[in-house]
Amino acid sequence: MHLNSVPFLLFLVSGIFCQFDYDGYYPSEADYGYAPSMFGPSTAVCAPECTCPISYPTAMYCDNLKLKSLPILPSGIKYLYLRNNMLDSLDEKSFDNVTDLEWLILDNNYLENSKIKGKVFAKLKNLKKLHINYNNLTEVVGPLPNTLDDLQLANNKINKVNPNSLEGLVNLTIIHLQHNQLTEDTLSGVFKGLNSLVYLDLSFNKLSKLPLGMPPNLLMLYFDNNQITKIPDEYFQHLKVLQFLGLSHNKLSDSGIPGNPFNISSLVELDLSYNQLKSIPTVNEHLENYYLQVNQINKFPVSSFCKVVGVLAYSRIRHLRLDANNLTRADLPNEMYNCLRLASEISVD
Ligand SMILES: *[C@@H]1O[C@H](CO)[C@@H](O)[C@H](O)[C@H]1NC(C)=O
Ligand SMILES: *[C@@H]1O[C@H](CO)[C@@H](O)[C@H](O)[C@H]1NC(C)=O
Ligand SMILES: *[C@@H]1O[C@H](CO)[C@@H](O)[C@H](O)[C@H]1NC(C)=O
Ligand SMILES: *[C@@H]1O[C@H](CO)[C@@H](O)[C@H](O)[C@H]1NC(C)=O
Ligand SMILES: *[C@@H]1O[C@H](CO)[C@@H](O)[C@H](O)[C@H]1NC(C)=O
Repeated sequence: MHLNSVPFLLFLVSGIFCQFDYDGYYPSEADYGYAPSMFGPSTAVCAPECTCPISYPTAMYCDNLKLKSLPILPSGIKYLYLRNNMLDSLDEKSFDNVTDLEWLILDNNYLENSKIKGKVFAKLKNLKKLHINYNNLTEVVGPLPNTLDDLQLANNKINKVNPNSLEGLVNLTIIHLQHNQLTEDTLSGVFKGLNSLVYLDLSFNKLSKLPLGMPPNLLMLYFDNNQITKIPDEYFQHLKVLQFLGLSHNKLSDSGIPGNPFNISSLVELDLSYNQLKSIPTVNEHLENYYLQVNQINKFPVSSFCKVVGVLAYSRIRHLRLDANNLTRADLPNEMYNCLRLASEISVD
């Protein structure tokens, strides 16, 4: 190849790479023709079976390779993708070459807690994202480094959480634990002190009660698809910024909601669909989206939405779903339009 053509080729190649979102980048055989050796140190060294995009040289993609053990991990890698492989174990020293790792994505492997050794994650002093969704975990992994902000362990068989496993994770913002086998006793207190936590998904588990000790800054909290029968009156009181709350597909009946737990002034969306409610739980006037479809609701008191109705006293509800209840349009009182004056959708049968 003539030296003059190199800059032109380089332009072309980077053009090709730019078409791909780095999250979904997969090379064709031909791309290997322009491996780093041709252009010098423009990319980090890469494990031969993996891909390190020229446009994102600190990321190494080793997805879909049927790997049973880790590839060579060259130092300098910060974002490591190992999705859809057959990894079942991690040695304490597995990541000693890449202690600068910021993202470690291990979704769709066969990892088991008993085969994850020692402080393999805690050693990673810059780790921010740890994703081990769709594996064979039975317990929350740990110890974890206190730099972590995004922990995803959904679709495992987790039924155990060491009470200290999340302790001190001051920057932890997101936790995905949906589709596991968690009970309320296991979870009691484990989220305490996580003052950065804004997103917690505990849907599709085995909760029959709400777990105690929710941290104060949650914005999004999901308990859908459990077996919850009861909401303590004061349960959400200390969650002063909660905006989205999911409790659909549970076993809530009127007697399980004796007080006024959903009078939460920050709440924007409340999902109580697929329960056994006969009346509409009272909500704060600031609520915008209220999902109550597939219950047994047979009355529509305006007071569930507005304590008083006036110039400034009205409900901010925009979407209200009441279909598949024991209610027809004829059951809706006329005075409701004054209270629900912003509603653009009210579905009833
Ligand atoms: C660590 O990096 C060195 C040099 O890049 C490499 O030879 C070695 O195989 C790596 N070890 C592991 C465990 O990845
Ligand atoms: C891991 O989980 C998969 C999917 O649930 C299952 O098919 C497999 O048998 C499990 N492997 C072990 C070793 O438990
Ligand atoms: C938490 O995040 C802040 C802001 O990004 C950062 O300054 C701090 O070092 C982080 N703490 C830890 C323990 O990583
Ligand atoms: C809801 O809570 C507010 C205080 O945040 C209170 O003033 C109001 O009376 C409560 N509404 C109901 C219906 O309990
Ligand atoms: C539906 O509501 C009516 C009264 O509005 C009541 O007579 C009837 O028993 C209710 N049916 C069910 C299945 O709850």
